[in-house]
Amino acid sequence: MWRTIFPEQENPVDRHQWNIGSVVPRPIAWITTLNEDGSVNLAPFSFFNAFSSHPPIVAVGIALKPDGSQKDTLLNIERTKEFVVNVVSEELLYPMALTSQPFPYGVSEVEKAGLTLIPSEKLKTPRVKESPIHIECELLEVKQLSDRNFMVIGKVVVWHIREDMLFKGKRPDPRRIKPVARLGRLWYATIDDNNLLEVPVPSGQGIGIDALPRFIRDSKILTLNHKALLGMEPEPPSEEPVTKEVVETILQANNAKEEVQKYIADLIEQGNVQEAWRVIRFVEKQVC
Ligand SMILES: Cc1cc2nc3c(=O)[nH]c(=O)nc-3n(C[C@H](O)[C@H](O)[C@H](O)COP(=O)(O)O)c2cc1C
Repeated sequence: MWRTIFPEQENPVDRHQWNIGSVVPRPIAWITTLNEDGSVNLAPFSFFNAFSSHPPIVAVGIALKPDGSQKDTLLNIERTKEFVVNVVSEELLYPMALTSQPFPYGVSEVEKAGLTLIPSEKLKTPRVKESPIHIECELLEVKQLSDRNFMVIGKVVVWHIREDMLFKGKRPDPRRIKPVARLGRLWYATIDDNNLLEVPVPSGQGIGIDALPRFIRDSKILTLNHKALLGMEPEPPSEEPVTKEVVETILQANNAKEEVQKYIADLIEQGNVQEAWRVIRFVEKQVC
C-alpha cells in the first residue's frame, strides 16, 4: 500500500512536513551575517546544500517570517552580498536550536548561544569559532521562488576546517566532524562509526544483478545490497575458493542451499566479495 500526496491538496503545515520528511537528511547551514549596526546575526537553515564544485556553489532556501516580514539573514545577505555557513556539529545541536528563535533584529544570537566570533579571511562577516567548518560565501543571486520563499545562491570563496577534523590530514572526516542533519518532525541525525558507510568504487563496468546466477538472483537470503556488490564486479573470479573446505562442509548439510547463501552473504558483509564469487562459482552446479 502506498500513500500518494499532492502538494496542492495539503494544508501548509502538512505540506511542509511531507517536504522536510521526504528530503532527508538535510545538512544545516548555521549562517552568520552582518547586521546594519555591525553586530552579527546567526540562524540555522536546513533548506541548504552544495550544487556544484567548479566553482563551488551553495544555496539556501529562506522563507518569510510568520508575520510576513523578511528574516534578518536574508535582509543582511541582500545588503552585504555575503554570508558565512558554519557547520553544526553534534555538540552544537542545542545552541543551534536556540538561535532559531525569533530574537528581535539587533539581538545577538551569538551571545545568547554562548558562542565566540572570529574574523573571516575574505569577508567582513565573522565566523563561529566553536563550529568545525566555516564556508565563506559571496552572494551570486537571490531568486524569488514564491511570494513567501527565496533562494540565496552563493559562491564559496574560502573554506576553513579545523586540523583535527581531517582524515589522514587531508580530507574532512565525518566521524570527527559529527555533522548534524535535519530530518522530518523534530528529528535530527549525526554520523558516527556505527552509521558511517563506505561504498567501494566499481573498478569497471560491473556485470549487473541481472547477470548473476539464478540461485543468487532469486535468493531471499541475499539482500539487494549483497546482490549489487556482486554485480559491481566486471570480471568475477573463477578459481576455487580459499575457504573450499568450509564450503564442502556446508554442502553436506540438509539445507545446504540456504546455508551456502548465508555463507556468501557473510563473506560479502565482511568485505570479501571476491571470495563470495569464488564460492558462487564453486557451488553453482551443485545447488541449482
Ligand atoms: C534546524 C533548523 C532548520 C531551519 N531551516 C530553515 C530554512 O531552511 N529556511 C527558513 O526560512 N527557516 C529555517 N529555520 C528557521 C529559522 O532558523 C528561523 O526562522 C530564524 O529565526 C531565522 O532567523 P533570522 O530572522 O535571524 O534570519 C530553521 C530552523 C531550524 C531549527
